[in-house]
Amino acid sequence: METNVDVAVVGGGIIGLGIAWEAIRRGHSVALVDPDPATGATHAAAGMIAPASELHYREEHLLQLTVDSASRYPEFLASLAWTGIDPGYRTTGTLVLAIDAADRTALADLRAVQARHLLPVEQVSLREVRRSEPMIGPAATAAFSSPEDHQVDPRKLAAALLAAVGERGRLIPARVSGFEYAGRRVTGAVLEDGSVLPARHTVVANGLAAAQLQGLPCRLPLRPVYGDILRLRVPAALQPLLTHTVRGLVRGSAVYLVPRGDGTVVLGATMREDGNYGVSAGGVYQLLRDAQLLIPAVAELELEEVLCRARPGTPDNAPLLGGVPGVDGLVIATGFFRHGVLLTPAAAALCVDLMEGKPGPPGFERYRPDRFEEGQA
Ligand code: GLY
Repeated sequence: METNVDVAVVGGGIIGLGIAWEAIRRGHSVALVDPDPATGATHAAAGMIAPASELHYREEHLLQLTVDSASRYPEFLASLAWTGIDPGYRTTGTLVLAIDAADRTALADLRAVQARHLLPVEQVSLREVRRSEPMIGPAATAAFSSPEDHQVDPRKLAAALLAAVGERGRLIPARVSGFEYAGRRVTGAVLEDGSVLPARHTVVANGLAAAQLQGLPCRLPLRPVYGDILRLRVPAALQPLLTHTVRGLVRGSAVYLVPRGDGTVVLGATMREDGNYGVSAGGVYQLLRDAQLLIPAVAELELEEVLCRARPGTPDNAPLLGGVPGVDGLVIATGFFRHGVLLTPAAAALCVDLMEGKPGPPGFERYRPDRFEEGQA
């Protein structure tokens, strides 16, 4: 029998780690259970803290949470400074480029939506853009600037969180199979070897694997949305390839290039729902082709890494976040889809607020994990 903790977190991706750290820094005892932390979607993620340029059609309802979370980043990262691990937070802003007329129209439409929500996005002249980013090629025909869309390096952030949780909480390298209940209260997590980790609060934050847990009080309708993503090294002669994150709409396909402080560039990402968890040759081809159209020098870079991970998607692409009515001691935090890194500070604060009996932010009930159950609105 494990010793009792205030909070048991199931899953050590960026969301689970963030919740664990938030609970620890508010004075709770925490154990995080994961056989292999930060090796799933977190390992692939580009780390764009970009509420404006990551806004997608019919996902405006997410803005309140994404904007709030982005604003929490500086303080959240400052709380980890003592680990000595630099999380690669950069505030150099994002440029979004269009290639053909349809891309220009789509980005102008998006700009109108962004303006309605007071997001700081401006159309800028290509001449001006090329002054700061001379590697942008001749195929770009329009540019928009999102100066407040930033980035963090998710691998480094996860390393800092792991160090912090390992030092001030407990890391248990195991898999969770389900929950222990006392009536309608969850009293802990049941590990695969049958032992129980007793906890006052149990948090489900293990991404897609959450749906397989035994004894969930509601169905978690998660689906894998695969993303192929590349890491490229910029040779010394081409440094810096870019200073901003550069996104593009290239004849209808979205692509992004995120320059890191270590001289690499992250190039992503496909969105595949074809059930294939291996790297897609067609996906890699499309990413390189489109990135090269935006930044021709991409062809001169060294290909360091190609990988694929699945994002945990939900039917409405919004997270499953919060408690389940009628069940105490359980908080769900999964289904973050494209926004796991962006939403980590806000999701962590919200989950710990709920455990402490505080109300969540206005409107958060729309993320109720049981909203897809029969009979729910
Ligand atoms: N947030 C970027 C992606 O999921 O590709």
